[in-house]
Amino acid sequence: MNSKLPTSPHGHRGPAECGLSVPGESAVLHPGVKPASLRDGFPLLAGAPALHYLDSAATAQIHRSALDAVLRHETTSRANISRGTYRLAEAADLAYERARQTAARFLNAGSSEEIIFTSGATASLNLVAHAFGNTLRAGDRVLISIAEHHSNFVPWQMLRQRTGIDLALIPVSASGRLDLGGLSELLDSRCRLVAVTHLSNVTGAWTDVATLVDAARKVGASVLLDGAQAVQHGPQDVQALGVDFYAFSGHKCFAPGGVGVLWGRAELLAAMPPFLAGGGMIGEVTPAATSWAAPPQRFEAGTPPIAQAVGLGAALEWMMSLDWAQLHARESHLCRQLIEGLQTIPGLRLIGPEFSAARAPIVCFDIQGLHPHDICQVLDARQLALRGGHHCAQPLLAALGVGGCTRASIALYNDEADIQALLDGLHFVLKELA
Ligand code: ALA
Repeated sequence: MNSKLPTSPHGHRGPAECGLSVPGESAVLHPGVKPASLRDGFPLLAGAPALHYLDSAATAQIHRSALDAVLRHETTSRANISRGTYRLAEAADLAYERARQTAARFLNAGSSEEIIFTSGATASLNLVAHAFGNTLRAGDRVLISIAEHHSNFVPWQMLRQRTGIDLALIPVSASGRLDLGGLSELLDSRCRLVAVTHLSNVTGAWTDVATLVDAARKVGASVLLDGAQAVQHGPQDVQALGVDFYAFSGHKCFAPGGVGVLWGRAELLAAMPPFLAGGGMIGEVTPAATSWAAPPQRFEAGTPPIAQAVGLGAALEWMMSLDWAQLHARESHLCRQLIEGLQTIPGLRLIGPEFSAARAPIVCFDIQGLHPHDICQVLDARQLALRGGHHCAQPLLAALGVGGCTRASIALYNDEADIQALLDGLHFVLKELA
């Protein structure tokens, strides 16, 4: 996982070697930080008042409404779906399809039949790379960016290997924003798909989707957004975005792990062959041949993550009940506090754009001479949870000239005390390690 990142000179282990490092009883978090009301809705945070959780870009904490929904489903409606004719199975069907409708409302999809449940954003992206990828021929172009997470990079490289597609890369500017200056050369008539991140997990930069969609439409290319990071910052509107595919994971939007969504325009999904094969995705199977079910079932082979989807539905309902204008103002305020504070730390380089409205509160930085794993482990001793490493975006880090960096990612349950604790923690890191 961190093969390219040199080992910390202080001997701190990276995540690949760490295995589980759940705090034991001796590391029980002492009371100290007064929980805000939003924080109270997250059982882990409510039970760990001193924890400054600043790694929500990796996994957001699960909201109580999602946990309750999973427990309720598993204890009152657990059965397989699309198979049983008894009432319990019908209750499971209903709960699963209701979650699909909720996901459709969360994305403002044209129809819930455009929502496919997967195991996560990675599975959603692989599904498109295989199923849509099977409609491409050698020489067709897929345009991604150098800023992609590996899950939207490697599947396309593998498709290139399988079929001979041409894979082109949108570069980034020095601040890490997608550099769309050369788009007209990259987006020629060979281009069939533009597949880019909606929000970078490293730079916190939002992608200028309107410019990409306009350019893609001119050459008849489809557009896929990897929304893994974006969904944590509010419901999305795929129709207003004007895109064709949207992928995200439940664990990044306050829901259980093991479930994700792929949204695709009905006409594109209808033209795609299946990805995985098995029960539930067929029309008819004979010894000679098999016909496919219509989407979304065509892409949901086997027993899906039913309870997880129900939990996801509950989390998305809860998210849709929030005042996002107020939350965005709060996230923006915390992002500014963090970036301004970081800029006072000697030897610190901000990775990604300066503070602005087109920036989300995902903030990476490098401190000259210090290894990100060392920084994270010293911070961990002060109840600060951050991610350090290459963030599954090695091509981007190489383009920005960074071997690894430390990331603080802010979600709706964070507050000013979390940011101040991080800034104080970094001054302590400098005293300890520099
Ligand atoms: N994609 C997740 C991250 O950026 C795992 O940490």
